[in-house]
Amino acid sequence: MDERKLARLVTDVVVRRPFLWRFARGRLRDMCDRIAPTWETRLRPEHLDALRLALEGLPAPARVLDVGTGTGVAAHALAAWFPAAADVVGVDLAPGMVAQAAAKGGRARFEVADASALPFAGGSFDLVVLVNAIPFFDELARVTAPGGAIAVSFSRGAETPIFVPEERLRRELGRRGFADFAAFAAPPATAFRALKR
Ligand SMILES: C[S@@+](CC[C@H](N)C(=O)[O-])C[C@H]1O[C@@H](n2cnc3c(N)ncnc32)[C@H](O)[C@@H]1O
Repeated sequence: MDERKLARLVTDVVVRRPFLWRFARGRLRDMCDRIAPTWETRLRPEHLDALRLALEGLPAPARVLDVGTGTGVAAHALAAWFPAAADVVGVDLAPGMVAQAAAKGGRARFEVADASALPFAGGSFDLVVLVNAIPFFDELARVTAPGGAIAVSFSRGAETPIFVPEERLRRELGRRGFADFAAFAAPPATAFRALKR
């Protein structure tokens, strides 16, 4: 199965049945490690445009997490967009991706971590971001502080291999105490934002 089909299949399955992640984890991590050195050749200049829109007007966060950070493109951008943030962290399952992200230097820091079991205390972040990453909703809700925000962006909208429809995001986040939903588009990118009560 090619990479894109595998990413879409794993996303569809894991969003519905997160406990099945354990069967896909190794294969996906190895695939992402393999593509890490050339990952950014796949990104378009408008990669973060919808995310940027989704973050406009939010109160400046002190603690920011980028889940599934890859080579850290969003985490480094977040550090630049929120210069007063005390901590900007990017986590990724694939050590090869994290190595690429950390090698750029800068204010963001990076850790190898699995989004299904994040190594952070509850309520650790005022802003949690995912760009083209599989959402593990229980963990996202746990690490977001009350009053904090989550922003989920897909850089090619529904054509992104890792994609979750807005309706599913709304339902899963709504169940976990998020509200004030808002959707954004900067074609082809889309983003969805929610605030934790
Ligand atoms: C499509 S890439 C997106 C990378 C980056 N956010 C970007 O837009 O450039 C998805 C990333 O999620 C990571 N990933 C997949 N499952 C993960 C998990 N359970 N926990 C942490 N990272 C994960 C992969 O290693 C990969 O780097």
